[in-house]
Amino acid sequence: MTNHDLAKIVDTNDEWIASRTGIKQRHICDPNGGEFPTDMAYHATLDALKAAGLQPNDIDMIIFASVTPDYPLPNSACILQQKLGITNQCAAMDIAVACSGFVYGVNMANSFIKTGLAKNVLCIGSEMLSRVVNWKDRTSCVLFGDGCGVAIVGRCEDPTDTSDVLASYLGADGSGKDYFWQHLGGAVTPLTVQHIEEGAHFMNMKGGEMFKVATRTLANNAKIVMDQAKLNPEQIDWLVPHQANIRIIETTVSMLKFDPNKVIINIEKYGNTSAATVPIAFHEAITDGRIKRGDLVMFDAFGAGLTTGATILRF
Ligand code: ACO
Repeated sequence: MTNHDLAKIVDTNDEWIASRTGIKQRHICDPNGGEFPTDMAYHATLDALKAAGLQPNDIDMIIFASVTPDYPLPNSACILQQKLGITNQCAAMDIAVACSGFVYGVNMANSFIKTGLAKNVLCIGSEMLSRVVNWKDRTSCVLFGDGCGVAIVGRCEDPTDTSDVLASYLGADGSGKDYFWQHLGGAVTPLTVQHIEEGAHFMNMKGGEMFKVATRTLANNAKIVMDQAKLNPEQIDWLVPHQANIRIIETTVSMLKFDPNKVIINIEKYGNTSAATVPIAFHEAITDGRIKRGDLVMFDAFGAGLTTGATILRF
């Protein structure tokens, strides 16, 4: 769905969206074509298994990050386990950490692997935000899209392989819980026909507040993990930030004095896909040859909650 397509349904235009956010288009799942978060994850996982030279039953834990799971129950990780034909009864959990979900997942996977509880953890960020976006609200609907990315974080048995997670930071600040919310449909206020008729059940956001918190948080996260790994911005090969707004990324990069040529940005093609932005951007940069084996890569994300997290890894 391009900005021009959007301009046909809300009072907006390509110039406003592109200049304020960097977004030119976003992708929307086709529910009639059976495209849901676990379906995107299924296809992405088949590609990841092939790239890793693994079979479905080599996966021994699934961490599925999403705020738009297929169903409230059962969780999407269990649905995906069954779709993939995994029969080893591995642990399968969903985490609702909004846009920081994939970074949380990778850091959790690293901990499970290093404590010996898992060997190959399937980490997923998959979102169908088109279901929870208010398509009548031009201040938010232009920002989001659907998408999925996955990674298999595995324990390496080869002593000559230097790949590793070198630093991890996870955080949250509940004092910002009212900056981004979707209150209806939970235990407090079950959904009614009236809510749906009034369109009161969609996501809501205080964009300006999120913008300010985002830049501060992303820059702070990056400093924390660089300190942990005893690395400076010149030593990091690539920054893969959450893609919420190009201006947030540019402000963060300039606060960090990070070389803009080392920042992976693809927001123009997908918009904000929440937990999926970091793995999609990471995958694209590996596929087109920018990120290579041995490179030092920093993930950096923030999201509703407010949640936040960062990672430095040697790929
Ligand atoms: N098209 C045209 N005009 C618009 C649109 C639109 N889609 N949306 C808003 N406007 C108008 C507003 O009505 C306002 O008009 P006014 O001056 O007459 O009142 C004007 O444009 C400026 O609006 P602002 O809200 O001040 O625009 P701003 O430059 O702050 O950009 C935006 C808004 C893009 C939402 C920005 O605040 C932002 O990106 N915030 C962060 C969003 C974010 O990070 N979200 C996700 C975080 S968590 C997660 O990823 C799940």
